[in-house]
Amino acid sequence: MKEIINGLSVFLEGNNKSKSIVFIHGFPYDHTMWKAQIDELSKNYFCVAYDIRGLGESSAGDGQYTMESFVDDLESVMNELKLNKPILCGLSMGGYIGLRALERFEQKFSAVILCDTRSEADNNEGKLKRAGAIKRISTEGLAPFAKDFITNCYGDHYKQNNKDDFENRIAKSSSFDPIGVKGSLLAMLGRNDTTEYLSQVKIPALVICGEHDALTPPPVMQSMAEKINGAEFVIIKNSGHMSPIENPLEVNKAINEFLNKL
Ligand code: MLT
Repeated sequence: MKEIINGLSVFLEGNNKSKSIVFIHGFPYDHTMWKAQIDELSKNYFCVAYDIRGLGESSAGDGQYTMESFVDDLESVMNELKLNKPILCGLSMGGYIGLRALERFEQKFSAVILCDTRSEADNNEGKLKRAGAIKRISTEGLAPFAKDFITNCYGDHYKQNNKDDFENRIAKSSSFDPIGVKGSLLAMLGRNDTTEYLSQVKIPALVICGEHDALTPPPVMQSMAEKINGAEFVIIKNSGHMSPIENPLEVNKAINEFLNKL
């Protein structure tokens, strides 16, 4: 079922009386990246997945986003649906939103799953890359950037064995509103570093990383996991940055095992 909340397209699966999980996708994707997890978890959980403003089916508006406005959007979805201490599950940019949300209102969540993400803000080189990407999209259009960025996201195993799906994901992201995509890049460029907060996280945490993740590699994620008290760290085989898509069986197993212990 789809609902529009505060201009965001929000997709709901499962029984709304069950414990809820809020899924936040990565950049430049949409809620469909969680399909394999929602198919499985909606049997026992109320699964809420929304398209980040400006991506997927959520309209771009003026494209003037900050990480704070993305966190405000998450909070508005939770408030509108009256979610009681949901489990938060974010990948990469979705993880940046999740980590900042923990820093701002951790008491509103019961557990967190961080996939292929990092707590550090962009360094100088990273900010210049974002600025270059924005300029490139303005001059060349979205498609060449989307193709290069998405190619870097996936491991070779997936790209060789799922050519059609991989091409479809590039085509879908290329069709997004460039204003929304550039807005996300600006929000990521300007985000705060959340590393200092990691040692204060009190809710149970699962940290998941694809073994061949080139964007947020295993050593970066392991060091993040080690800063969170009691966090579990799981490496996903045959996977790059998009572990929930590239190896859904292993990701679902890790998530189910984690959730069963809560
Ligand atoms: C993502 O998957 O959300 C992006 O890789 C995040 C980023 O570009 O930092």
